[in-house]
Amino acid sequence: MSELAGRVALVTGASRGIGAATARALAAAGARVILTDLADASALAAELGGLWRRQDVTREDEWREVMAFARSEAGGLDILVNNAGLFLQKPLLETTLDDWRRLHAVNVEGVFLGCKHAVPLLAERAPRWAGGAAIVNISSVAGLVGAAGAVCYNASKGAVRIMTKGLALELARSRIRVNSVHPGLIDTTMGQEVMSRVAAALRVDDEEARSRLARRTPLRTLGKPAYIADAVAFLASDRAAYVTGTEMVVDGGFTAQ
Ligand SMILES: NC(=O)c1ccc[n+]([C@@H]2O[C@H](COP(=O)([O-])OP(=O)(O)OC[C@H]3O[C@@H](n4cnc5c(N)ncnc54)[C@H](O)[C@@H]3O)[C@@H](O)[C@H]2O)c1
Repeated sequence: MSELAGRVALVTGASRGIGAATARALAAAGARVILTDLADASALAAELGGLWRRQDVTREDEWREVMAFARSEAGGLDILVNNAGLFLQKPLLETTLDDWRRLHAVNVEGVFLGCKHAVPLLAERAPRWAGGAAIVNISSVAGLVGAAGAVCYNASKGAVRIMTKGLALELARSRIRVNSVHPGLIDTTMGQEVMSRVAAALRVDDEEARSRLARRTPLRTLGKPAYIADAVAFLASDRAAYVTGTEMVVDGGFTAQ
């Protein structure tokens, strides 16, 4: 399948988990992928025939440099996936203002900065494609429903959800589609952290927590990064040409309950 042939896609937080799977899916669909992360993703970039650039999404100077890199090394940008994120499970009274700011710096300001600095490049090349250019922001089911003891994370992912809708309206005339994806519990480093916390709360081991969480999911299994990557690849493609401002939930039915 080469439906993204000729397109350049940037994925943040691409060294592992959902970001790595997304880089793979976009490359498999024919896109030239620029992988960025705090952690090294150069080997994966090389494997995918893509480009690698270290980036802290909270730093505006680095977003400027990454966009200059996309322009000079890949000729521009057609797809932005704001995936880098942090999780925090802490009761309200234990949550410090620093915790709040650190989480929002990555999960919210990182997305804001990414959109802001990518839009000029995306707008330039959007007329080339039937479906225009695309931004996909990775939110969470925690951006849709509450999670006890995760007030910071809830707030940050809710912000991503509604920022996405506002931007979709603002950018529609530039033919830049903007959508959010809302994963349920996905088996990544972050997902394993969630499972360990559930295990500690229930006083069971990680394996038992994992199987209880799977049983509470209507499709009776935990999510794989590839499920999210496939949703992103669809939203980035011309098959989603009439899809903007939407929230795609990929959670095995968890929030339908
Ligand atoms: N795993 C889940 O269950 C789940 C569920 C819902 C939503 N999500 C969201 O999906 C996205 C990816 O999650 P994941 O499970 O793959 O997590 P992960 O922790 O496995 O990977 C996150 C990546 O983001 C990178 N990162 C963190 N801070 C960064 C920064 N300041 N600049 C650049 N990169 C940074 C990390 O280095 C890491 O490679 C996140 O936005 C997360 O909130 C995950």
